[in-house]
Amino acid sequence: MLEERARRARLLEHGAGVAAACRKCAIGSQRRNNVYGEGDPCARLMVIGEGPGETEDLLGRPFVGRAGQLLDKMLGAIDLAREDVYICNTVKCRPTLPGPRGPKNRAPEPLEMANCRPYLDEQIDIIRPRVILALGAPAAKSFLGRDFQITKMRGRWYEGPQGIALMVTFHPAYLLRQTGGELTAVKRMVWNDLKAIKSKLDEQAPSAPAEQAALFDTQ
Ligand code: URA
Repeated sequence: MLEERARRARLLEHGAGVAAACRKCAIGSQRRNNVYGEGDPCARLMVIGEGPGETEDLLGRPFVGRAGQLLDKMLGAIDLAREDVYICNTVKCRPTLPGPRGPKNRAPEPLEMANCRPYLDEQIDIIRPRVILALGAPAAKSFLGRDFQITKMRGRWYEGPQGIALMVTFHPAYLLRQTGGELTAVKRMVWNDLKAIKSKLDEQAPSAPAEQAALFDTQ
């Protein structure tokens, strides 16, 4: 396992270098750091957000601002530390709009997501998690199509890329914008989604054919 983890880490490091050199989109030249992703290369859960924000762009790490702190708590609620999972985004460069007090975050454009998709697909291919959690509508749409409606369609299992079980829940930044009864309702929905993920991760992994054969070998 240690060797396998090191092998995957090397592949991810190579992927990060390729993504960092990418200038397919204008945001590739505007961002400070490419935010490729981080975590366990053998993670059973891969968390995919929308795109880096200001703090992520500054530090070159995904989900390290306020939304990231809440994500850490969400993972902690199902006994997972940040280091146990792999965290990344649909786009690796911070999408921005000009603002009076400097650049403002915006959602990634479909073309930016399409340009970045090979890097994400490669990460999924290297990590091959048991479960993918997409945070928020833009990340969900990138897997499930433009008609995906988060309020109606989150909280169910979908077949994600490479047949991997995919769950969608609300983005932690969305939770941070809620108050009062709305916040309670959204928290309850997110908690249900997290519990479903925990159950899926706890399910017994099917034994490999060789193991099954060994089990019934009577010779
Ligand atoms: N929001 C995201 O979608 N991704 C991050 O990395 C940070 C905030």
